[in-house]
Amino acid sequence: MPMTSAADGAQWARRRTYAIISHPDAGKTTLTETLLLEAGAIRLAGQVRARGENRRTQSDWMKIERERGISVSASVMTYEYRDLIFNLLDTPGHEDFSEDTYRTLTAADCAIMVLDAAKGVEPRTLKLVEVCRLRDIPIITFINKFDREAMEPFELLDDIQDKLALDVSPMQWPCGSGNRFKGVADFKTHEFVLYKRPDDSEVSRSERVPLDGEAIHQVLSEDELTEVSEGVDMARELLPAFDRKSFEEGHLSPVYFGSALRRFGVHELLDALADHAPGPQPQAAAKGPRDVLEPGDKEVAGFVFKVQANMDPNHRDRVAFVRLSSGQFKRGMKLKTEGGKTLSVHNPILFFASDREIADEAFAGDVMGVPNHGVLRVGDTLSESGKWRVSGIPNFAPEMLRRARLKDPLKAKHLKKALESLAEEGVTQLFRLQVGGEFIIGAVGALQIEVMAQRVADEYGIDVVFEASPYDTARWISGSDADLEAFIDRHKTAVAEDIDGDPVFMAKSAWEVNYSQEKFPNITFSATKERS
Ligand code: G4P
Repeated sequence: MPMTSAADGAQWARRRTYAIISHPDAGKTTLTETLLLEAGAIRLAGQVRARGENRRTQSDWMKIERERGISVSASVMTYEYRDLIFNLLDTPGHEDFSEDTYRTLTAADCAIMVLDAAKGVEPRTLKLVEVCRLRDIPIITFINKFDREAMEPFELLDDIQDKLALDVSPMQWPCGSGNRFKGVADFKTHEFVLYKRPDDSEVSRSERVPLDGEAIHQVLSEDELTEVSEGVDMARELLPAFDRKSFEEGHLSPVYFGSALRRFGVHELLDALADHAPGPQPQAAAKGPRDVLEPGDKEVAGFVFKVQANMDPNHRDRVAFVRLSSGQFKRGMKLKTEGGKTLSVHNPILFFASDREIADEAFAGDVMGVPNHGVLRVGDTLSESGKWRVSGIPNFAPEMLRRARLKDPLKAKHLKKALESLAEEGVTQLFRLQVGGEFIIGAVGALQIEVMAQRVADEYGIDVVFEASPYDTARWISGSDADLEAFIDRHKTAVAEDIDGDPVFMAKSAWEVNYSQEKFPNITFSATKERS
């Protein structure tokens, strides 16, 4: 990805929009909190979770979140550090919500990958890095939990290189782990950063000792010093030095070590982000006056990567999360979708770490919440001219298809409305069979279906059961009118419409998709669809 220069001092150039990716339990929530603490955005540990609690009391559907202790809703947190404005996109960790996570990553310019030092690269890390790769998002690695027994540093780095095919450049070298953890050697300053457990209220400012001087002998034993020096020498010899270009192209990841829980190494990570994370990147456009939107362009344009409905159960409101790609947004501005819908944006919300505020202005790289009554959908592009459509916001074919069955058939109309409005959030997908008009819900995993049933009950007062359906796989179909007509004619009972009215083939197995492809070679079967 070509990087855009931040040197012109423009407001947009101060934005750093990033996401934290990890396998569940690696420490993403803890790191989010400590990063915000170190940046001075929140004062007390517990606010990220506490904020979560508040949200939970606002909407009942998060009961599942609370019961299961997982985080399922993505949001954004904005904070300032070193004259830069950081927008941290929170991504749900549970794998059933991966589609939401994937879309959130389309709004990020950089990612922090958190690994558990005892486990290295885990399955979900792998999937998320694949997604980052689609857009060559630069990745900074933080190896967490060094206060516990960890794998050997070289083993960890090999794991990243082997499993993720990502070059690594350690910026530090750890000394020991668990009870023997002493801290890290900093390659750049040639100092040793001492690990000490901070007490809870203290913002950690680690003590640093020059690696070459006398003082190092007071803090490390001879054995420890030898271990670190050898590690540093070997790492320097065997692994590439940090190279900005290679990092920005997504090929090489700088690696930091620490403990989010003990707040060790987090300040260094915060500085690494400020030093290395790129500013807002050009956004490829599928349609528009040109094929790319530049952050410095005058026209205001952005895209919706997430919609959250019913944040307040008393109002049927929705908030569309819009990542601005270009221009300087001013409150009250009229923006248009490519489909011709016009929206006056009077109350755009900026989400600060401990509060939310109405935004008077926002710039490329920023994420604003736009309250609306269902006009905005995931994948929509908003711009002043209405001529743009950004590319790369995918819908993925669901891996689980369930039939919606009402306990009270008189509520069919209500159910349609409920399912449609929840599908518009983009968390689940909705298909309606052409014959019979039955609703089929598509999801990535079982938990989404559970959340859906609970939300339909809580927010719409409708009792619905999602039962097994005969279908196993959904594929969007396209081709010439004649070819499509022939296909649909032959598969009348297995063709449905998605929420945009596009035709979808509901297959009973992957085999059936292959078989149909052979029979109808002119039809394209797609596992993803880019929303227009
Ligand atoms: P996640 O969002 O990636 O799922 O992980 P989260 O931060 O919730 O952390 C998962 C568990 O790992 C938590 O423990 C957390 O306290 C612990 N943890 C995170 N970072 C570190 C670290 O640097 N060192 C150590 N030793 N532990 C860490 P838990 O017992 O599951 O939850 P809790 O009761 O502590 O909240």
